[in-house]
Amino acid sequence: MPKAYNPNDKFFRRAKEQGYRARSAFKLDAIQNRFHLIKPGNHVLDLGAAPGSFLQLIAKIIGEKGVAVGVDLKSIKPFKQSYVHSFVGDIFDESIYQIVEQKTGLKKFDVITSDLAPATTGIKSVDAGRSFQLNEQVLKVAENHLKKGGHVVVKAFPGIDHDQLLALMKQEFKQIKLFRPEAVRASSHEVYVVGLNKL
Ligand SMILES: C[S@@+](CC[C@H](N)C(=O)[O-])C[C@H]1O[C@@H](n2cnc3c(N)ncnc32)[C@H](O)[C@@H]1O
Repeated sequence: MPKAYNPNDKFFRRAKEQGYRARSAFKLDAIQNRFHLIKPGNHVLDLGAAPGSFLQLIAKIIGEKGVAVGVDLKSIKPFKQSYVHSFVGDIFDESIYQIVEQKTGLKKFDVITSDLAPATTGIKSVDAGRSFQLNEQVLKVAENHLKKGGHVVVKAFPGIDHDQLLALMKQEFKQIKLFRPEAVRASSHEVYVVGLNKL
């Protein structure tokens, strides 16, 4: 198993230098540079957001005219920007989206990002299956809470269900792209699937 924090890792060092809470920020940065999903002023929902490095980058891109909302099972250290909101909750629990709406006034978002990761077992097929269940739920959330023409990013661990995930996304989005940012560890199988322009 790779170490969670490797001080020799260039993205770990860069995250420290730039004040990011995790090296994952550089994964979203690469996705954003390639696909330009998030625009200034956008409303963005980030699922599986703790500790909050995606939210840090999203906040920079959207600026104060935008709104960023993060949801995670774990609590997220509050942001100084008033337009970044975080909630403790399970993405499978419908009431969390009602709470988000009550607190932010937002029911629909321009972009949904997900870096959700299941509690891993180290057994590739089991972990891939759990990741698929999370992504199926992200797509349900996107059905209800992503605007038409909006974009989604999900993290996948390709396994037996991968083709099913792509097929589900193809039904809902005009274009599907697979992308593996440089910041993904060489030992990881993870890949990001981007759904462009919700139908
Ligand atoms: C890789 S971390 C996310 C890192 C984050 N993108 C960042 O940049 O800081 C994956 C997160 O998914 C969360 N998670 C897993 N299952 C979840 C669920 N059912 N509901 C909410 N969050 C979940 C975990 O608690 C964990 O914090």
